[in-house]
This record gives sequence, C-alpha cells and structure tokens, in this order.
Amino acid sequence: MKRTLIWDLPTRLFHWLLVTCFAGAWLTITSDRWLSIHIFLGYLMLGLIAFRLVWGFTGGHYARFASFVASPQAGLRYLRDLAARRDAAYIGHNPAASLAIIAMLVLGVAVGFTGIFTQGGEEGQGAVTGLLSIRAAGWMKRAHEVLAFLMMVTVGGHLTGVALGSWLHKENLPLSMVTGRKDEPDGTVASRPFNASAAVMLLAVAAFGGWWFFYAWHEPVAARLGLSASVPVGAGLDSPHVAFVGRPLPDDRVWREECGSCHLAFHPNLLPARSWRLIMTGQADHFGTDLALDAQTTVGVLAFLVRNAAENSSTEAAFKINRSIPNGVTPLRITETPYWVGKHSDISAADWQLPPVKSKNNCAACHLDAVAGTFEDAAMRIPRDTTAAGAASATPSGGR
Ligand code: HEC
Ligand code: HEC
Repeated sequence: MKRTLIWDLPTRLFHWLLVTCFAGAWLTITSDRWLSIHIFLGYLMLGLIAFRLVWGFTGGHYARFASFVASPQAGLRYLRDLAARRDAAYIGHNPAASLAIIAMLVLGVAVGFTGIFTQGGEEGQGAVTGLLSIRAAGWMKRAHEVLAFLMMVTVGGHLTGVALGSWLHKENLPLSMVTGRKDEPDGTVASRPFNASAAVMLLAVAAFGGWWFFYAWHEPVAARLGLSASVPVGAGLDSPHVAFVGRPLPDDRVWREECGSCHLAFHPNLLPARSWRLIMTGQADHFGTDLALDAQTTVGVLAFLVRNAAENSSTEAAFKINRSIPNGVTPLRITETPYWVGKHSDISAADWQLPPVKSKNNCAACHLDAVAGTFEDAAMRIPRDTTAAGAASATPSGGR
C-alpha cells in the first residue's frame, strides 16, 4: 500500500468552493438584504461548474469524466451490490457517486440560469436585463426554487453516500477530498497535481471574484474597517453591500417640490393611477392638511403621477403593489396596500420606534434609494439608533 494522489488540487478547490457557494446561497435566502451576496455566489457557482466541465476532459486521471461517468443501470447495480456487501472497490468515484455528481452539475447550471433570468425580470438587473416580463420572471423564480430544492436533495444523497462509503470501507472519504491522497496498492495510477489549464481557469474565477468585490463590497468593507468616508451614513455598518445601479426612474421638478416638502416625495410607481386621482381630488383635506395647489400645478402633477403610476411602471415594487390591491379598492396610502403590509410584517415594534424611523412612511430611513423610488432589495437596512452611543457608529468614519 502506498499514499497516492487521487484528487488533484483543482478538483479539491472546485469541490470545496462549490460547497461554500451552495451553502452560502441557501443561507442568504432568509432576507432580501443579502440578495447581492446570493447572486454573487450563484454567478461564482456557474463559473466553477464551467471550470469543472473543462477539467472533466483536461484534468487528472480521476477527475476525467471518462474515468467515472456511469449509466443509471450501473449506478443501481452498484447500490444493490453495496447493500449485499459485494461491491467492487473503486479508487475514484463509484457509479452511484458519479450519477450524483452529474446530477449536481446539471442542476447547478439550471439553478444558476433560472436565477439570472429571475434577476433580469424581477429586478431589471444582471446579464439578461429586460428580457422577461415580471410575470414570466415569477415562473422562473418558481423553477429556480424547485431546482435548488432538487439540488439540495441530491447533495443530501451524496452526503449519505459519502458517510455510508466511509463507514463500510473504513476510510475517511471527506479527509481524502482535503488531502487528495488515499492508501492504494502499489502501481495505482496517480493524478498529476496541477496543470496550466487549471491555473488559467482558476485565475479567471479569482479575477471575477475580485471584480465583484470592488463592484459591490469594497466600499462597505472599507467603511467597516474605518477606511472610507464616501459611504452613506450607516450603509457600511448595517448593510454588507451597496445597492445595484439600476436605471433611474422618471422624475419631475414640480412634483418633487410640491409633494416632497412635508414628507418623502413618494414615487408614482408605488400606487395605481386611481389612487393618485383620489389623492389629488381630495387635496383640500390631505390627511388633515390642505395642499392648496393651484389648478395648473394640480393638472401637471396629476399627469406625472398617472403617467408613471404602478400599472405603467416596470419596477418589481410597482408590479407587486398593484397586483396585491383587490379590485374596487382605491388605497390612499402605500402603507395600506397588502404587498407593503406583507413585506414589512417582520419588522419589530422596537424598530418602528427607532428615532430615525418613527413613522411607517419615512421610507428613506430604511431604504437608501427611497428618493429615487426604486426600492431595491440590496439598498435597505434597518437604521441604527442615532441617540447616545448609536450616534458614533452611525457616522461614517473619517466623515465630517
Ligand atoms: C402640507 C404637507 C403635505 C404636502 C405638501 C403633501 N403631503 Fe402627502 N401627506 C401629508 C401628511 C400629514 C400625511 C400623513 C402622514 C402620516 O399619516 O404619517 C401624508 C401622507 C401621504 C401619503 C400616504 C403615505 C402612506 O402612509 O403610505 C401619500 C401617498 C401622499 N401623502 C401623497 C402626497 C402627494 C402626491 C403630494 C403632492 C401632491 C403630497 N402628499 C403632498 C402631508 C403632505
Ligand atoms: C423600518 C424600516 C423600513 C421602513 C420605514 C420602510 N421599509 Fe420597506 N422594507 C423594509 C425591510 C426590512 C424590507 C425587506 C423585507 C424582506 O426582506 O423581505 C422592506 C421591503 C420593501 C419593499 C420590497 C422590496 C423588494 O423588491 O422586495 C418595498 C417595495 C418597500 N419596502 C417599500 C417601502 C416604502 C414605499 C416605504 C415607505 C412608505 C417603506 N418601504 C418603509 C424596511 C422598511
């Protein structure tokens, strides 16, 4: 018996990076705030799989598809033999493991692409912006979730197989994926540790990670370390990433002046046209105040509001707010629409009472892009308490 290199370095790196991406992608679905990290991990996973597909032809002996790809029948036969304890010994992947690996690679690609299409349709961002309607993106999202679940099930099967194999054959399989080595009879073919094609591809993946870091993360991270003065208050501290840069929504000077003096100028895409008409006809008693706009201003502002109302806008918030309002209901408040209520139901009473928030319609306290009207997932965070001790940490370090 001799310690022999079975899993070459690129295969091991691929394996553990994929584990990290997959686990990280699951951990970041709990809140929309983590969406840009989730998306980063998805793109990285696609890059890793692309690498693995090439490596399956150019890699070390046991990494090559030719050395392990098996038919479903061979996989089943192996499992039957395993149950009867008369399975043949495999140095690389056994036939059942090989099927799980192929399923994970295929599902990984499918999960990644449905994710990119969901992002393009719902958020209007990423590689395929604007190709799908928000409705079609909703179906993509469902497919994305089902495929991710199937991939999770396959990962579960793979882990069960690894545990079972380790126990039945009395070898530490997870450790061999770390060291790459196994005790095998003399004369066993060994893998070469590395080659140039792997170096090029791993560099490409690393370059992508580095680019993304500077695109989305370096400002917040710098702020966290106290090295940046150019980040919005609290953004670097409470949010792990900056907002995506989307297309700016339509703007109007008169609307902003007339509707932005008492509160945030709520962007027209946040309510349907019928709501804006009702608000403008009732302007003499606008939540207890008289707006007292002259006729010309009223016509101009109303036209802007209606032209860009929820049903005429392509943002995710507009689509979902509008869809959530029952027929025949004309809400006067964004904060009374079912979608808004649902999205904010998890926020604790204590957070609503924070001095920087105080009111539900103080959207900008939590949404960094409220003024622009886009309400992107990555741009929201619950602000810190700015009183006493909170004040110091909410001021950007190095800022004046
Ligand atoms: C004179 C001050 C004032 C001006 C100017 C003003 N509003 Fe308001 N607005 C209020 C008050 C007060 C409320 C109720 C706030 C509350 O309940 O917390 C309100 C609430 C709203 C809400 C409901 C927000 C929610 O809770 O979802 C909308 C929508 C709104 N205003 C639209 C407009 C529009 C459109 C204009 C411009 C035509 C405008 N407002 C101009 C004072 C004003
Ligand atoms: C106290 C902080 C806070 C305030 C104030 C607040 N929001 Fe939010 N909002 C959140 C949080 C947190 C979420 C994300 C919930 C989640 O992760 O699903 C959210 C989600 C949203 C979303 C969904 C974003 C998406 O694409 O999924 C929209 C739209 C939105 N808010 C609009 C508003 C508007 C309009 C106002 C003002 C009328 C407002 N919010 C006020 C905290 C706040």
